[in-house]
Amino acid sequence: MLVAERNSPPSTSTALDLAWVRSQFPALAQTVNGQPAVFLDGPGGTQVPHRVIHAIADYLARNNANTGGAYSTSRNTDRMIADARAAMGDFLNCDADEIVFGPNMTTLTYAISRARGRELGRGDEIVLTLLDHDANFSPWKALEEKGVVIRTAKFHEADCTLDMQDLASKIGKRTKLVAVGYASNAVGTINNVAEVVRLARQAGALSYIDAVHYAPHGTIDVRALDCDFLVCSTYKFFGPHLGVLYGKREHLKRLRPYKVRPNTDNIPNCWEWGTLNHECIAGIKACVDYWEELGRRANPAVNTRRAAILAAHEAIHRHERTMIEKMIAGLLAIPGLKLYGIGDPQRFKNRCATFVVRIEGNTPLELATKLGERGFFTWDGNYYALNLTEQLDVERLGGFLRIGLVHYNTMEEVERLLGALREIVG
Ligand SMILES: Cc1ncc(COP(=O)(O)O)c(C=O)c1O
Repeated sequence: MLVAERNSPPSTSTALDLAWVRSQFPALAQTVNGQPAVFLDGPGGTQVPHRVIHAIADYLARNNANTGGAYSTSRNTDRMIADARAAMGDFLNCDADEIVFGPNMTTLTYAISRARGRELGRGDEIVLTLLDHDANFSPWKALEEKGVVIRTAKFHEADCTLDMQDLASKIGKRTKLVAVGYASNAVGTINNVAEVVRLARQAGALSYIDAVHYAPHGTIDVRALDCDFLVCSTYKFFGPHLGVLYGKREHLKRLRPYKVRPNTDNIPNCWEWGTLNHECIAGIKACVDYWEELGRRANPAVNTRRAAILAAHEAIHRHERTMIEKMIAGLLAIPGLKLYGIGDPQRFKNRCATFVVRIEGNTPLELATKLGERGFFTWDGNYYALNLTEQLDVERLGGFLRIGLVHYNTMEEVERLLGALREIVG
């Protein structure tokens, strides 16, 4: 699906208007020690455009209320949440009542793992991968308490891609759910999730996709994927700190959530517990508005919000691809540097613009600190991709240095980062 969309003729859309993009994000204008700040920490959380900040402030100033009340601000809140749900429905290509809001991806995943766990028992199996973030691992592994057997699929150490053969061999007639990441938040590998969904379905198992890392980089289409669940976090794609779950209507209706009695039995609200973060939900709508405007600027001919989101992704993809090429060529030329993940330009369509490296003679923390002093915001450690760092035996060595690019980064920033790394390693 993704590949088809990416390979379709772009023609009518223009390049990303980077000057406009950067003008939307006030945080990008900051400096550190007199140097312009370079935000390479997108995989940990992206910056937000003005309109998201304004939407959050405006909600608190004018409509701050709980839901379901018989007065104007409460009614406005109900309407605003419905609009945000519809916007996320367009972002993921599903109906609004299949969208569940929650504090973050981890919490939503525990909600679904507990509910699915109610139906499972001794001898049932769940298939996970060693490439995944722990938030798509531990919530499922917790079901071992009920006698559920956890089977884990390996990855190829040479390029950090999922071992699809191993994964297929782990899925069988006892499999009740397969959980897989759309893209790795460490090594940047994009997994063939359509094939994983197909394998799960063939075995009569449910599929659960963690699209947290993929969402800022590629189009998500839950209908085309035909997955059962997909989860993402808006703070990774230019929105506020919240999580969003897509669940197929039939599953959201059938599964039994743990919830308080006065809460409704209707979907999707029965999956949303307590009072939600309304101001941030207002920010989600503004975030999708940003995507829409980006797309309409890239291709003024688009005539729906969904089409505009696809156009935005197309423009983003081309810009990120150019940065990937420059970044990898530059990283591989640094003496003593080891890149983990796909480095072959022929296979760049299977990776996103997230890079992890180790450099001889420097711990990841030392590198991140020295870069931080120069205004480059990177990460060190395991970023909760714990199975990956353990398997690659870098956990005891401080993990990796992670450099993450999103569409508001520039080729000039890539060049400056490479220059700074060369200077640091001497
Ligand atoms: C791939 C991936 N999955 C899951 C998570 C957890 O997301 P959240 O912080 O919304 O719980 C993250 C966070 O970094 C992530 O990168």
